[in-house]
Amino acid sequence: MANRIHPSILNANLAGIDGELARIPSAHGIHVDVMDNHFVPNLTLGLPVVESIRANHPELFLDIHLMIEEADRWAPGYAEAGCESVTFHLEASAAPIRTARQIRQLGSRAAIALRPQTPVEPLADLLTEFDMVLVMTVDPGFGGQSFLDNQLGKIRRTRDLVRASGQEIWIQVDGGVSESTIERCVDAGADVFVAGSAVFRADDPDAMVRHLTEIADARCAAH
Ligand code: DX5
Ligand code: ZN
Repeated sequence: MANRIHPSILNANLAGIDGELARIPSAHGIHVDVMDNHFVPNLTLGLPVVESIRANHPELFLDIHLMIEEADRWAPGYAEAGCESVTFHLEASAAPIRTARQIRQLGSRAAIALRPQTPVEPLADLLTEFDMVLVMTVDPGFGGQSFLDNQLGKIRRTRDLVRASGQEIWIQVDGGVSESTIERCVDAGADVFVAGSAVFRADDPDAMVRHLTEIADARCAAH
């Protein structure tokens, strides 16, 4: 599948989301970080704001990253709101299969995220319940942190598991992805790239989205 760049709006101007989205027309999806101040020590936005973004931008691919406790309780609501992809954390779910099936039944892609310290191997027998695996390359909670190289092995092992499953499951990386780290992620097997500060701190955010796409595509072609 083609590489995708999903800018995270976490470090954009959250009081002017419509204007920020207008700055990145080349994005393949919009990554929205939902934080509850419990699963992570930060608080961002929730379902009412996501519903407003949905209503104002019916054309966008909304990639929701839930960093919240009680994921089983809250995740299906984001699918019901019409988001294309809903990601919840394995660490915050007591019933990941049931939740993934609910998300899919509501018409969204179901995705599962792993904190840096969580191994991917426990997902091996659950993998086909998901459309995407998110390997965090920072401790979740904040934008602007440094990319954790020690997660590259996990991305590789995730790619091996996906290959063995025979299904088309996307592998997303989130945290510290920039023009200087994206090639390592491509080499390890990722194909969906979240970039927050790299995009929104650039002088021209859309040019950065295109630049990241080009780097990833060129690296893939070289394999
Ligand atoms: C961090 C969030 C990320 C964050 C990435 O917990 O999940 O999506 O916005 O920001 P950068 O790209 O700046 O690391
Ligand atoms: Zn995120």
